[in-house]
Amino acid sequence: MAFIDFVQGFRRQMETLTTIATLLATAAVLLVIAGLVFAKNRKKHVPLMMAAFICDMIGLVLVEFGPLIYGQSDAVTGLATAPGLLKSIHAALATASVVGYILQIISGKKILAGDRTRLDRHKTVARVFLLARLGAYITMFML
Ligand code: HEM
Repeated sequence: MAFIDFVQGFRRQMETLTTIATLLATAAVLLVIAGLVFAKNRKKHVPLMMAAFICDMIGLVLVEFGPLIYGQSDAVTGLATAPGLLKSIHAALATASVVGYILQIISGKKILAGDRTRLDRHKTVARVFLLARLGAYITMFML
């Protein structure tokens, strides 16, 4: 009986984590879209993109540590026990998104400090970032 309760509780926890992670990812994508709409308005663009980054980082920690906490990863390495092609593609796109965020924060800060020469690079990375972030969002629902 206790074991069944445990399994049911475990399933509920995983579903809750998945729901929270999905909501955070949806919020992040909407914030990025809003940030792009206001790309020329620094007062709106910067906080919107930073809020997207924070949502995504919280989601990432949940996705990374959730399965570990609830025992769905290898206890020693912390890696998923059942890797697959789609999971790998999703993980690669999610990693590219994190790198994109970091590059955008670095170049964005330099633009804010007055270096307009960084804007071209910021716009180029923005395109790659958007493809990666939207790709990661879409593949999330295919796992
Ligand atoms: C991954 C997230 C981000 C994306 C996709 C993105 C995208 C863009 C794009 C497309 C522009 C071009 C606007 C134009 O056409 O002139 C822009 C401008 C700018 N971005 Fe970002 N950005 C991101 C994050 C950030 C962050 C985190 C900062 C600050 C720390 C930042 C600071 C700026 C600044 C200062 C400008 C120039 C605004 C102006 O015209 O004065 N961006 N961004």
